[in-house]
Amino acid sequence: MTKVLVTGASGFIGSTLIDSLLKTDKYTVYAGVRKNSSRKYLQDERINFITLSLDNPQLLHEELEKERFDCVFHLAGLTKAKRLEDFERINFGLTKNLVDALNPDETKLIYLSSFAAHGPADETTFEKARVTDENKPNTAYGRSKLKAEEYIRDNFKGRYVILRPTGVYGPRETDYFLFFQTIDNHIEPYLGFVRQHLTFVYCEDLVQVCISAFETPVTGKTYFVSDGRMYLDSEYAEISRQVLGVWTLKLKFPLFVVKWVSMFLDCVGRLTGRQFTLNRDKYAIMAARNWDCDIEDLKRDLNYVPQYDLKKGVEKTVAWYRKEKWLR
Ligand SMILES: NC(=O)c1ccc[n+]([C@@H]2O[C@H](COP(=O)([O-])OP(=O)(O)OC[C@H]3O[C@@H](n4cnc5c(N)ncnc54)[C@H](OP(=O)(O)O)[C@@H]3O)[C@@H](O)[C@H]2O)c1
Repeated sequence: MTKVLVTGASGFIGSTLIDSLLKTDKYTVYAGVRKNSSRKYLQDERINFITLSLDNPQLLHEELEKERFDCVFHLAGLTKAKRLEDFERINFGLTKNLVDALNPDETKLIYLSSFAAHGPADETTFEKARVTDENKPNTAYGRSKLKAEEYIRDNFKGRYVILRPTGVYGPRETDYFLFFQTIDNHIEPYLGFVRQHLTFVYCEDLVQVCISAFETPVTGKTYFVSDGRMYLDSEYAEISRQVLGVWTLKLKFPLFVVKWVSMFLDCVGRLTGRQFTLNRDKYAIMAARNWDCDIEDLKRDLNYVPQYDLKKGVEKTVAWYRKEKWLR
C-alpha cells in the first residue's frame, strides 16, 4: 500500500486529511505528531503514529530514515503566534528541516502554504490574485510561508506541489467559529466601511485537493485553493445568519479601532503568555479588502471540482458545532 505521512496531524486540517485518506483504503497512514500533541481527532485504530522532531535536524533525519514514505503532506505550522519571530522559526524552520531530511527520490512533498504568502490581491482594481503575480505578503505569517515555499522550490530536488488555501473552515475549526458564535449572539460585525472580497474553502474540499496533488503526476507547481467563488463580507454574514437562523444587529467597527484593540491584545498576550485570535498580524489580514484568487489552473491540472459552496459548507459546519455543543 502507498505509505503517506501527515505532519501537523493533530490539527484541524491535518486530522481532516487523515480521515479522508483512511476512507479510500488505499493508504497506510502515518500521523506525524509531537509527544504532547492532542489525539482527540486521531482515534481511528488504522492510524500509525510517528513522533517527529521537526525542530531538530539530526533527530528528524534519524526518525525519517527508518521509514520510507511515498508522500509527505507537510501541514505542521503556526497560524497564530505569541511573538512574530515564531512564525519564521516554525513555519520556515520546520519546512527547511523537513526538506533537508527527506529523500527526494522516493517522496513526493505536498506543502500546505497559504494565500497569505502572496498577500492581498489588488485593492483598487479588485482583480483576483494569481500565482504569476509578484508576492507581497503583508504579515509575518505570510512572509514565513513564502520563505518556506521558496526553500522548497530552490532546494527540494524531487516532486512537490505547493498549495495556497484561502480561509479554511469546517468542523473542528476554532477561529471562524468565533464569527459564527458572534452571529449566533445576534451581532453581525463588519471591520471597516469599504466592502471586502472574501474567499473560502471547506476543509473536505481542501483535503481532496491535497490528495489529488499527490495522486496526479503534477509537480513543481503552486496553486491557490478556494471554492471558486468570491463572497462579499455582507454575503458571508448573511449566509451565516440564515444558516444559524437568528436575527442580528449590524455593527461596523472603524479599522483604526480594530487596530488599537489588536495592539492592546498583543501587549496582553506578551505579558500573560496568552494567544488571542485577534492580533496585529491577523489585523493586517482582516483589514485587507481583496482576498479573491484565481483557481482555473487548479481546476484544469487536478480536475478539481469543489463540492461545497459557502452555504453548503456552513450548514455542515454549524451542524457539527451544534452536535458537539459548541453552539446552542
Ligand atoms: N486554517 C486555515 O484557514 C489555513 C489557511 C491556509 C493555510 N493553512 C495552513 O494549514 C496548516 C494547518 O493549519 P490548521 O488550521 O490545521 O492549524 P492547527 O489546527 O493550528 O494545527 C497546526 C498543527 O501544526 C502542529 N505544530 C505547530 N507547531 C509545531 C511545532 N513547533 N512542531 C511540530 N508541529 C507543530 C500542531 O501540533 P500540536 O498539536 O502538537 O501543537 C498541529 O498539529 C498550517 O501550515 C497553516 O499555515 C491553514
